[in-house]
Amino acid sequence: TGKKTKKSPETPTNDAFDSLSIETKQAATVVLMLNSPEEEVLLKASEAILRFAEKGDVNRSSLLSLGALEPLLSLISHEDKLIRKNAFMALGSLASHGDVKLLLKKNDAVPQMVAKLSHEDDVVILECATLCLALLSTDFGCKVQIFDNKGMEALIRLLTNPHPNIKKNSVECIYNLVQDSQSLVAVCKLKGISPLLELLHTDVPAIQDVALHTLECITVDRETQAAFRMEKGFDIILEFLTNQKYSDLHALALKVVCNCLGDSGSVPVIEETGVLEKLLQFVVTSNLHEVQASAIKAISRVARSCENRKILQDKDVEKVLVDLLAVENSNISSAACQTVAVMSENLASRDTFRHLDGIMPIVQLLNSENAEVQEAAAQALSSLTTGNQPNAQVVDDAKGDVLLIRCLQSGNPNAVAHAAITLANMASHESLRDSILSHGAMQALVPHLQYGEKHLIISITQAVASLACDAEGRMEFRNTGGLPPLIKLLLSNDAEVRRNGCWAVSVCASDEPTATEMCKLGALEILQELNLSTSRKNKFSELALQKLLDNNLSVKYSLTGHLSPSDIITDGFYDPGQVQVGHRVPALEDLSKQAVNQHRPVIAVNGKPHNLTSSKALRNKRPSFFLYSEENQKDRKESERQPWTLPCDVAFHNMVTEAAKTILPLQDDTEQYRALAKLVSDAMGGAVNPDELHNFLFELHLSELKHKHQSNIIPIGRIRKGTYYHRAMLFKALADRIGLVCSLVRGSYNRAWNEVFVSRASSGVPGYFHKPQSYIVDLMHDPGNLMRNDSLEAAQYQSI
Ligand SMILES: *[C@@H]1O[C@H](CO)[C@@H](O)[C@H](O)[C@H]1NC(C)=O
Ligand SMILES: *[C@@H]1O[C@H](CO)[C@@H](O)[C@H](O)[C@H]1NC(C)=O
Ligand SMILES: *[C@@H]1O[C@H](CO)[C@@H](O)[C@H](O)[C@H]1NC(C)=O
Ligand SMILES: *[C@@H]1O[C@H](CO)[C@@H](O)[C@H](O)[C@H]1NC(C)=O
Ligand SMILES: *[C@@H]1O[C@H](CO)[C@@H](O)[C@H](O)[C@H]1NC(C)=O
Ligand SMILES: *[C@@H]1O[C@H](CO)[C@@H](O)[C@H](O)[C@H]1NC(C)=O
Repeated sequence: TGKKTKKSPETPTNDAFDSLSIETKQAATVVLMLNSPEEEVLLKASEAILRFAEKGDVNRSSLLSLGALEPLLSLISHEDKLIRKNAFMALGSLASHGDVKLLLKKNDAVPQMVAKLSHEDDVVILECATLCLALLSTDFGCKVQIFDNKGMEALIRLLTNPHPNIKKNSVECIYNLVQDSQSLVAVCKLKGISPLLELLHTDVPAIQDVALHTLECITVDRETQAAFRMEKGFDIILEFLTNQKYSDLHALALKVVCNCLGDSGSVPVIEETGVLEKLLQFVVTSNLHEVQASAIKAISRVARSCENRKILQDKDVEKVLVDLLAVENSNISSAACQTVAVMSENLASRDTFRHLDGIMPIVQLLNSENAEVQEAAAQALSSLTTGNQPNAQVVDDAKGDVLLIRCLQSGNPNAVAHAAITLANMASHESLRDSILSHGAMQALVPHLQYGEKHLIISITQAVASLACDAEGRMEFRNTGGLPPLIKLLLSNDAEVRRNGCWAVSVCASDEPTATEMCKLGALEILQELNLSTSRKNKFSELALQKLLDNNLSVKYSLTGHLSPSDIITDGFYDPGQVQVGHRVPALEDLSKQAVNQHRPVIAVNGKPHNLTSSKALRNKRPSFFLYSEENQKDRKESERQPWTLPCDVAFHNMVTEAAKTILPLQDDTEQYRALAKLVSDAMGGAVNPDELHNFLFELHLSELKHKHQSNIIPIGRIRKGTYYHRAMLFKALADRIGLVCSLVRGSYNRAWNEVFVSRASSGVPGYFHKPQSYIVDLMHDPGNLMRNDSLEAAQYQSI
């Protein structure tokens, strides 16, 4: 600052230093005089500095670079009141300079300034002190310091000071302070609400403005809202709102009202004060868009409570809102849409909006360039279409599906989520689903499954589930690569995401291609693990697992050991034996590639008649056969491109034909089961005396079959010697072909059996049948014998 010090004093004139002009010609000297021990000198110097400072910015800069601020700061505590006052006024004048804030902070001026608020009564001093504090209060550190030095109490007290500038500086300072949560709640505790409200009566717009901003800020707090009601805040603000003189501030005042209408405590007030009528009146009559928008926002706040929605409904708020949708102002459009969304919590209102033709304009707003409007429109539509088919139809009629899908591609996650929910609502109606799918909804949804935030992912998952409830939707979902990210959701650590993921998986598992694809992606293993974890499972995880298994009976039987009558065995079914939960069931094709081993063979079902292509393909897969075959390289390449198929099973095919011919004509289901049991038993080695079981060498036979065909996979019809579990499987496979009802159950130690339900004819009353009962079918010892499931013989049959 040395350079400046030299430069500044060049221009002092008589004009600048009126009374001191003779003694001192230079500002630097006057600044030095501020340190004088003599009161008279101080008085003159401070007065001179003040005058000099008031001349303009250039002079103020000079003073600051001459270091006038420090001595002035000590003079504001001088015992002589006039010196203090001059010093304060000089400071106040300097305050407009940009550097002053920093210098005051550096000199730790806050405690001293705060102290003045309580100990001075001079209007000018208070005005300057509050001015300095208002200036300092924009700085975070100073804010804390003001608060800690009990500045808030003092400032609140000064709000009632008659001098407008003191009021204004104080409320400005308070406004800056309440940007901090600790100060925000303190205003209410220190009884600041009433004086703040009082400021609305000042008739000074600048003061009213800051007071309203402060109130807007602090009324986010519950206790403050209660205090606001206690202090008749609604009455005061409503009165303010009726005064047209203040219409510039009405939008702001409405924001305060809006904050205070939030909680349930405001319900009685709403009725007493007539605030609702007032708000509606503003909406309808105001010619200021900002005021209208604020009033609608306040109404949407009120409408959050169910009681208030009823009151609003009685006042035909739906009509008002629909009319507002025609106003071309983005703030009004978005506020109106948000309020439609809230009002639509009320079932009757959803219909009312439709009857008033309010849905079409909202659909149109999806076209808006304004992101907020688009989001609000999507939000309104998601509420309107929830559980309301006619509304969904109207959205569709207005070509809303196209716009909603376009909305999915916008960058605004909230808009995307609302659009997804709307599409989910619409897609739950079959008639609307096709159109939504045909416009590329899946392509638009799938990317969000991978990168979205929680609430977004959940909405997207719901839309996917809704669209995937028919085969076409599922195919679309598969083809757009939706399955991998969906399966990943099952691993999410968020319970809600997991639950929605499970739901969508359970829907997608409704057809075989999709279920197969999901199994390939490891969905089964993940779901099994979920099902075993008490903390991670949910109400849809078992359903999803169940549905996946229902589409892959081989895996179902392997894992659960149970096929119910509705599980119909088809070609390609195989029994690889029991696989432990959490382990993968090997694919048949992979099993076919294994060299012949000592393990239990895999039994497979294939009822197709002899087919050259498939048998050729099978042979070509096995190098040992191929070496000796005459087929050439070209054939081999061709067959390798074809998918692997099961060896054909002529014997099984013939058994099906025979069963259909001989068993179906039988009248009585008991007879049918008996006949089928005999057929199965005859095919697999006939009746075996339980005592001779150890001589029944089925294992040797199976081993021979494996070596003969060079495969661990044995088509079931080829088995000529089979034990309990082979026979039970054959029984189920044949029964399913000819339409007999039975289940297949695996026990321990290679036991398996079939359970059937039959109603026996009453021996006493002709034509009367007993209630159907559960029987186990004997296929081994007394083939055709039906044993009551709770009988001793059944128990013996089921275990060793
Ligand atoms: C002080 O302000 C007056 C009036 O603007 C100006 O004429 C004078 O040059 C200024 N003095 C200094 C030292 O900047
Ligand atoms: C909407 O409100 C914002 C803030 O309240 C304002 O800045 C903007 O100008 C308003 N827009 C319109 C179109 O009125
Ligand atoms: C799921 O777990 C339960 C035990 O928590 C088990 O009883 C059930 O069989 C399992 N479901 C499937 C399909 O594995
Ligand atoms: C059933 O699961 C097995 C083993 O994961 C798999 O190889 C096979 O393709 C699945 N079949 C179907 C029809 O999904
Ligand atoms: C064998 O089966 C395939 C499909 O499975 C079929 O296209 C082909 O015509 C069949 N061939 C004969 C000879 O039946
Ligand atoms: C027999 O079957 C009935 C009907 O399915 C069932 O409720 C009962 O538990 C079964 N009893 C035994 C011992 O399996």
